[in-house]
Order: sequence, then structure tokens, then C-alpha cells
Amino acid sequence: MVKIGNIELHDQPLILAPMEDITDPSFRYMCKQFGADLMYTEFISSDGLIRNGRKSIQKLDIYDYERPIGIQLYGHLIDSMVEAVQIAEKSNPELIDINFGCPVRKIANRGAGAGMIRDIPQMIKMTEAIVKTTKLPVTVKTRLGWDEDNKNIVEVAERIQDVGIKALTIHARTRSQLYKGRADWTLIGEVKNNPKIKIPVIGNGDIDSPQTAGEMFRKYGVDGIMIGRATVGHPWIFKEIRYFLETGKKLPPLTINEIVDLAKIHFQKSVKYKGEPRGVYEMRRHFSTYFRGLPDFKKTRIRLLTTLDVNEITGILDEIAGKYGEVMR
Ligand SMILES: Cc1cc2nc3c(=O)[nH]c(=O)nc-3n(C[C@H](O)[C@H](O)[C@H](O)COP(=O)(O)O)c2cc1C
Repeated sequence: MVKIGNIELHDQPLILAPMEDITDPSFRYMCKQFGADLMYTEFISSDGLIRNGRKSIQKLDIYDYERPIGIQLYGHLIDSMVEAVQIAEKSNPELIDINFGCPVRKIANRGAGAGMIRDIPQMIKMTEAIVKTTKLPVTVKTRLGWDEDNKNIVEVAERIQDVGIKALTIHARTRSQLYKGRADWTLIGEVKNNPKIKIPVIGNGDIDSPQTAGEMFRKYGVDGIMIGRATVGHPWIFKEIRYFLETGKKLPPLTINEIVDLAKIHFQKSVKYKGEPRGVYEMRRHFSTYFRGLPDFKKTRIRLLTTLDVNEITGILDEIAGKYGEVMR
């Protein structure tokens, strides 16, 4: 069993990465069905929350079946982060996560997200203030460092543990790498092997199959793994990984028939949570990944991704099942 504060997780927990515009309640519903052990909201701007911004407030919506769940916050000012934590607590999440990893220029250049990696004293101060303001366990998600010449995660991990966080997630890239190049987990292994580190260390970056998941646990000894992009269009990866970890075997692929059924549930949840047309727009990215690579699919794809009519979309999904139903993914 892995413990994050008082939260008890399955051994070798499989964690859904927070992803802006992706990990909303409808997608989280799918991931939970397939056994995600812990999930996070999309990141939420502390400034947005304290100004009562509609989008930020909506991201606080969490549902009982999703538990345990963490709310992720970002910001560059300690006072607004502390205030935002107090607002977020009202949604009763199991934990609060601080984003010190977002590389997007608009955010990092202001000193939030990965921008905080350039000011470690401030990062520590902010974390300490947040830990002090809440009874919930606080976790941190960050990167290896700012750039190739400044990979300071081993030192940062010790310092940030010392101010009271309950788990640390490390994305195995620097801020400069953005999402490019290969994630290099060597330093995650070093953090994990540091005898001074007592909190769970969660590894993240480029896990895209049950085999890579197994390899990361084995090679780097991490307490948990966090999976992002590989879940998009493939939320059943959690089940595939768990099965592989337990049996060493691969589950058979899904058929398009099965995927259509999943896409319909996802779509229905998306429209229910977000309403029309937003719930429809936001499904487009998912539809294109659910059905990526089908032969001779272009015309159907365009129809699926342009109409806003819920019934028409359901009809197109039925057509896909009719035409490609037995194809395996
Ligand atoms: C579209 C997208 C949105 C993301 N949004 C967030 C976010 O809101 N918070 C965060 O900590 N990381 C965010 N990330 C980073 C992921 O959580 C993760 O660290 C990264 O994708 C590497 O993991 P992966 O290789 O499994 O995808 C995002 C990544 C993507 C691709």
C-alpha cells in the first residue's frame, strides 16, 4: 500500500496526470472506470479562483465516485495561492497539488508553474505557506529543473519534503524541453534512492504502454506512476497496466465496437457536465483519438468533428461501429 498523508492507495498506484482541457469530470469518469487509483483536476489558476472566474470555479466540480482526487492549483503569488487553497478546500478534495511544472511561456515567465523552478526559495516559501494553511495533504508536481544545465530536482526534493509535502511527482523533463525529446528518468531514480526522501515519489513522462509502466517501476523504484498523454483516446490503459503488473500478460485489444460504446458514454457525460455546445466541442479531441488511424476514415471524421448536433453524432458513432466494429485497437 502507498500512503499520501492519510490517503491509502493500491500498491504501485496508477495516477491520471492533470491535463488542461482534457481531465475534466467526463474524462475522469472514463479513467476511473478503468482503475485509475488517483486523479487530479486540470490545473486551476489561483488568480482566476479568487476573482471568481467562471472557468476556474467550474474546474472545482468533483464527484464522489472520483475519489480520491486532488485539486491542482498554480500561481505566482503566495497570498493568492493560500486564498485559492482555502476556496478549493470547500470542494472537499482528498488533497491539494501545487503545479511547479507548467512550461507554457505565459505562465512560467510570470513565475508560476515551472517558472518557480528558477526561484527555489520562493517555491519553498509558497509550499510551506500552503502546507500551513490546510489540513489536507499537499503534493507537488514539478520537473527535473529549468534546463539541461540546471537540473536541481535532487536538492529541491529534499527541501520541499522538509516543508511538509506528502508526495512529489516528477515529470522527467526540464522546463526547456517542454514536451519534446525523451523523458529521462535517471534523476527520478536518484531522488527515489536518496535515503533522506521518505515521501512517495511519483514518476511521470512517456509512459505509453504496460511494458514501459512495468519498466519504470522496476528500474527506478518509484512509488507510483502518473500517465498523461497515453490515456487520451485510450483510458483503458489503466486496466491494461494493472493487468500486466499483476500477471505479466497483455490484455487483448478492444474492438471498435467496444470503443464506440465507451466514446458514447464519454460523450454523454461531457454534454451532461458542460452542456451544449461546449460539451460537444470538447469531445472533438477525444473522438479523433478514439478513432485515430482507421482506414478510409477521413470523410466520417470530418462529419464527426464538425457537427454540433448530438443526435447526428450518435448516428455517426453507430455508423463507425457498423463499418469498423470488429477492428481491433
Ligand atoms: C494537453 C496537456 C495539458 C496538460 N495540462 C497540465 C496541467 O494542467 N497540469 C500539470 O501539472 N501538467 C499538465 N500537463 C503535463 C502532464 O500532466 C504530464 O506531466 C506530461 O504530459 C508528461 O506525461 P506523459 O508523457 O504521460 O504525457 C499537460 C500535458 C498536456 C499534453
